Amino acid sequence: MKKILIVIMSVALIGVGIGGVLMLLQTARDELGLQEPINTEINLPEPKYDSNTSVEQALFERRSVREYKDEPLTLTEVSQLLWAAQGITDAGRGLRTAPSAGALYPLEVYVVMGNVVGAAQGVYKYKPHEHKLVKVKVGDVRDELTLAAHGQTWVGKGAIVIVFSAVYERTTRKYGDRGIKYVYTEAGHAAQNVFLQTVSLDLGTVVVGAFVDEEVRKILNMPDEEHPLYIMPVGKMD
Ligand SMILES: Cc1cc2nc3c(=O)[nH]c(=O)nc-3n(C[C@H](O)[C@H](O)[C@H](O)COP(=O)(O)O)c2cc1C
Repeated sequence: MKKILIVIMSVALIGVGIGGVLMLLQTARDELGLQEPINTEINLPEPKYDSNTSVEQALFERRSVREYKDEPLTLTEVSQLLWAAQGITDAGRGLRTAPSAGALYPLEVYVVMGNVVGAAQGVYKYKPHEHKLVKVKVGDVRDELTLAAHGQTWVGKGAIVIVFSAVYERTTRKYGDRGIKYVYTEAGHAAQNVFLQTVSLDLGTVVVGAFVDEEVRKILNMPDEEHPLYIMPVGKMD
């Protein structure tokens, strides 16, 4: 009996030891900037098309939340939020969860991964047609984003931060200057979708419009043609 106990305790100690070493290696790798390279992809889990929260309930309960628990989100939650933002709902015609003038889809969606189970920290771009993420920058940029948003602390406290940007030309090519107005209204549609989805997932968020565009562009490695419109930190509620 004693022998068995000693064996069990030895195995447990070895397990704890290996876990500790792996955590130290991960920390050292992050410190040295040796995270996995950009262009790595994350295939997101299939979103759900049903829930126990009615649209009326989500509308009634939606509130700006600026304090979040220091707890991770899952990729399933991230998947659902991004699908709500710009997911494909008619694959044949490429139509999405949010309406778009002329179905030209000027919006791009980024997710700043800060604390998500099974996903390395970094900036990822959402690819709606494949429902996947492509990494465009390594490392945790949440503190940088907070500074770019005039020090609004909640921006950096979400487990993730969703950022909407737009390529105006996709819409102005057809609608001229009026297209600018269309792009802004579309960002509102997409952000409200995310908002209502957070209610259904019991998560908190707020839309942040006060930030320095050029700084956000640089922090997220956006191409020249893209312009940031909205920032939404998302986290578990206190
Ligand atoms: C276009 C727009 C920009 C906003 N910008 C910010 C912002 O920079 N920071 C912030 O904390 N809240 C921001 N908000 C959130 C509003 O403060 C919030 O919606 C308002 O106080 C009403 O509260 P409610 O969302 O809980 O109903 C913004 C809202 C909108 C619509």
